[in-house]
Amino acid sequence: MIDAADIVCGLAWGDEAKGKITAWLAARKKYSYVCRWAGGSNAGHTIYVDNIKYKTHIIPAGVFFGIPSIIGPGCVINERKFQEELKYLEENGFDSSLVRVSPRAHVVTEQHILKDKRESAEKLGTTGSGIGPCYSDKASRVGVRAASILPPERLWDEQLSGEILCEGAQGIWLDLDWGNYPYVTSSTTLPYGACSLGFPTQKIRRIYGAAKIYDTRSGVDPDFPDALLDDPVLARIGEVGDEYGVTTGRRRKVKWLDLPKLVHSINMTGTTHVIISKCDVLEEVGEFRLQEEERVIEFRALADMRTRIKKKILAQCPLVSKVLFSQSAASV
Ligand code: IMP
Ligand code: MG
Repeated sequence: MIDAADIVCGLAWGDEAKGKITAWLAARKKYSYVCRWAGGSNAGHTIYVDNIKYKTHIIPAGVFFGIPSIIGPGCVINERKFQEELKYLEENGFDSSLVRVSPRAHVVTEQHILKDKRESAEKLGTTGSGIGPCYSDKASRVGVRAASILPPERLWDEQLSGEILCEGAQGIWLDLDWGNYPYVTSSTTLPYGACSLGFPTQKIRRIYGAAKIYDTRSGVDPDFPDALLDDPVLARIGEVGDEYGVTTGRRRKVKWLDLPKLVHSINMTGTTHVIISKCDVLEEVGEFRLQEEERVIEFRALADMRTRIKKKILAQCPLVSKVLFSQSAASV
């Protein structure tokens, strides 16, 4: 039995700097395991170790800090991409033997990738990683599991102990149930999904919710119309904030922070620690706005905007104990 699980989850549409937060927590080395619970190589996590930037898709951030890293039963894994990432780790001097895969994780085949690219990449704006077709086969009970393709030494023995860190992928508004269906991913992005790693809900201790001080969306979503790309201020935020997909290289659409929606996601996830990043991007652009209901509210300075956000969260989110603001690349 584990002692406690801390969870990092996305409070928006992914790309909320979960990788950075996970890395910051893992670097303190108090966790016995760092685990992924859902998704596959559709995710793109950017991690800084000693100021050097690394990118991963399926491999949890623990491996960068010498911590055993588990790809859980709810994840899907493409063998070719997985091997490429292991090689990338080794080339950069990290111990890839720390990475273990649940024998129950499902295998993304090249056919899944082709089907996704052919049928959904354009229409739904998927990352073309074969995620939907793989989860379809899983649910139809015709899928192939990791146990049948990976060597035994790569498989997780399904034991967890001590304090563990669970690293979310994507974000709450991409969740299969709660996102803007069908413009969603095919897995559970909400933190309760972390329990699929095999521990009881009572063991969840802290939930670190990641958000940005403005909203972004990669892929297709009617709530983020293409016209947003033509707004000069929002476009400038996208440029300064380097808002391009880690997995696809696509330009992300940018919108002013929807504060009531953020409050909703904090309460639904049970977030205890809110971390809002990329404040320096607005500072550089020199525009400070957010949206409440139909109104766009403008602030004279970042400090005023932060005060408004923090006040509202602390007033309306009873489970929150801390609201932190951070810069782009600096630690949280
Ligand atoms: P899929 O997960 O590749 O099927 O893509 C489904 C939707 O989720 C698309 O709108 C993608 O852009 C979005 N998505 C999936 N993974 C990520 C991510 O890691 N960050 C941001 N968006 C993502
Ligand atoms: Mg990402």
